[in-house]
Amino acid sequence: MSKPVLIGLTGGTGSGKTTVAKTIIEELGHDNIVLIQQDSYYKDQSHLSFEDRIKTNYDHPFAFDTELLIEHLEDLMAGKSIDKPVYDFSHHTRTDEVVTINPCDVIVLEGILVLENEQLRDMLDIKIYVDTDNDVRFIRRLLRDTKERGRTMDSVVNQYLGVVRPMHQQFIEPTKKYADIIIPEGGYNKVAIDILVTKVKSILKELG
Ligand code: C5P
Repeated sequence: MSKPVLIGLTGGTGSGKTTVAKTIIEELGHDNIVLIQQDSYYKDQSHLSFEDRIKTNYDHPFAFDTELLIEHLEDLMAGKSIDKPVYDFSHHTRTDEVVTINPCDVIVLEGILVLENEQLRDMLDIKIYVDTDNDVRFIRRLLRDTKERGRTMDSVVNQYLGVVRPMHQQFIEPTKKYADIIIPEGGYNKVAIDILVTKVKSILKELG
């Protein structure tokens, strides 16, 4: 089996990167693709109290266990299975569960900081930045976090103004320059997704 194609997909919170990742996977219609979300590699914080866990800056590169993520990607590249951690956003830490991921042909790695770390960036075959207006991203985040991540409106607003927005400007937005492709307006850009899918199919064909 040849080395898998590694696609890195980034963009700010609420940019639509998960939709793009899932649409690419669906359109590729290939049964040997995995989606790895960088969120799964938030550091384990089970040793901290809930009060301390909510004070963590989750938009800073330090919040992620990037060493483990790189190790897992290297294992998949080497044809080995991994036990991917499972993250719980309501409790701000890892759960006791893991999900076993088997070696595959294509890996889509999606997350806010996948282009920030140089070592991680250098592993990627295709680098994509999903670029969506800040107001749209904030509205999506507010709706998602209150519906799906157990947050109040006040907490989402305070976190956004205090941490999410400044960290986006400092760490996420500057990684746009590393992208091979910038997709405006997230998951609904059919032309951009079609171009990407065609490219990945041609790489897979070349690899045989
Ligand atoms: O899915 P998305 O890319 O939006 O996930 C990243 C976001 O998750 C970060 O902007 C971070 O603020 C948020 N997060 C959080 N609480 C955690 C872990 C991450 O609000 N415990």
